[in-house]
Amino acid sequence: MDIPWWRDAVVYEIYVRSFADASGDGVGDLTGVRERLPYLQRLGVDAIWLTPFYPSPMADGGYDVADYRGVDPLFGTLADFESLVADAHDHGLRVLVDVVPNHSSSEHPWFQAALRGERRDRYIFRDTINNWQSTFGGPAWTKVADGQYYLHLFAPGQPDFNWRNPEVHAEFLDILRFWLDRGVDGFRIDVAMGLYKAEGLPDVGDQSFKSVSPVWGQPEVHDVYRDWRRLLDGYPGERMAVGEVWTDSSEDLALYVRPDELHQSFNFAWLQAPWSPTAFKKVIEDTLAAVPFATWVLSNHDVVRHRTRYDAADPGTGLARAKAALLTMLALPGSAYLYQGEELGLPEVTDLPDEARQDPVFFQSKGELPGRDGCRVPIPWTVDTPSYGFSPGGVEPWLPQPAMFAELSVEKQEGDAGSTLEFYRRALAHRRDLARSIPYTLEWLDSPEGALFFTRGPLTCAINCGLGPVHLPEHDAVLLSSGPLKRGLLPPDTAVWLRRDS
Ligand code: GLC
Repeated sequence: MDIPWWRDAVVYEIYVRSFADASGDGVGDLTGVRERLPYLQRLGVDAIWLTPFYPSPMADGGYDVADYRGVDPLFGTLADFESLVADAHDHGLRVLVDVVPNHSSSEHPWFQAALRGERRDRYIFRDTINNWQSTFGGPAWTKVADGQYYLHLFAPGQPDFNWRNPEVHAEFLDILRFWLDRGVDGFRIDVAMGLYKAEGLPDVGDQSFKSVSPVWGQPEVHDVYRDWRRLLDGYPGERMAVGEVWTDSSEDLALYVRPDELHQSFNFAWLQAPWSPTAFKKVIEDTLAAVPFATWVLSNHDVVRHRTRYDAADPGTGLARAKAALLTMLALPGSAYLYQGEELGLPEVTDLPDEARQDPVFFQSKGELPGRDGCRVPIPWTVDTPSYGFSPGGVEPWLPQPAMFAELSVEKQEGDAGSTLEFYRRALAHRRDLARSIPYTLEWLDSPEGALFFTRGPLTCAINCGLGPVHLPEHDAVLLSSGPLKRGLLPPDTAVWLRRDS
């Protein structure tokens, strides 16, 4: 069998609102993405994943969809989308789009009808409620005018669909067809372990993302993905789907990627692992044992940027560890998901003023949690204020950017061999040469304390998470390192790729 394109693909997540603004309203858009395709091609990624750009009142940054078959004027038009897909393909980039099946926007015509008392069976309405909480904080139920309540596992503006109603199935198959017919190469499935809730909606003790829970991961959800897989397989060109599955078990994760279900699911265990060779080794072993096609991810639009996570654990180490973790991740069998801005070494913006914040997590936790805006700050393209090239003219972007963004901008880093951007470009170029020619298996090598060494055919990767330098494993050439090697030793917080000729 030919190796499918997505098995080793590097997919770049574009949070559309914050990537590049072509229209000049301070918000990123589809034409902004299209104009930056040469940048992405040069970076060396294989595919882009676009976060939701559908008509939405933006109660949750677009993850509240009011029309699944359109483009919000904020982001452009359907014609802009079609041009983007065509141009991306011309640049050798595949395009994944987000599909949000767990909930719609409260502005969706079906929910508007439900509010009028029509067809409430497409959502989850009840006279009496259980103790479920919204993932963003506060109760998961909101009362409507006639006294019934509806369920929303996220914001009140995101009512959960009733997947026990076949009409919901038919609607989503049709939505997938709509985008497949417009040439998308696949889907990222939002809250893929949601959709079904346990019959009877029993109270829960702990509502966190767990493999066994009345709220998440009900067995019926797998039938949905079997249907979706059949649909995808019916299209030419290796269309695929990757699920956003938050769970506490790799065996549970594996259920979503059985041969007749999704092609991939995100592996958040890698993102959650502490800076430790034993933790990294365990995640790698568990993942490779559990799933046929692994994925790896360090950051996305929902979590604190990994540079800042590493810094929080051990101040001053963030960037070095971020680069070392990236190099290690790119050496692993499977596909890697990058988040816009990580190639610039962007940190989380932690000091956004409260009045600038937009994430419902901030509001629903009554300001107790900062929310996710800090990883969504618009990308700095140039050194110029006010928007560092994000928006044309003098427009202020939708979230304020910190002054340090000038130094981290693409313009500043481009051509500087020591920059994070040029490091990413080198790493991705090497990976492209290697990934599909080396075995999709990994062998551990004996590693000194604090370090982790493994090989895949001619490639050896070594990462040092310890406190002192370690000797490099046997090699014929050094391909690339995430930081300088010192007298042939691998310093702490550094990873290296080595070549072995025999
Ligand atoms: C997913 C998205 C997140 C969103 C949530 C509800 O986790 O990644 O941004 O808030 O689903 O749709």
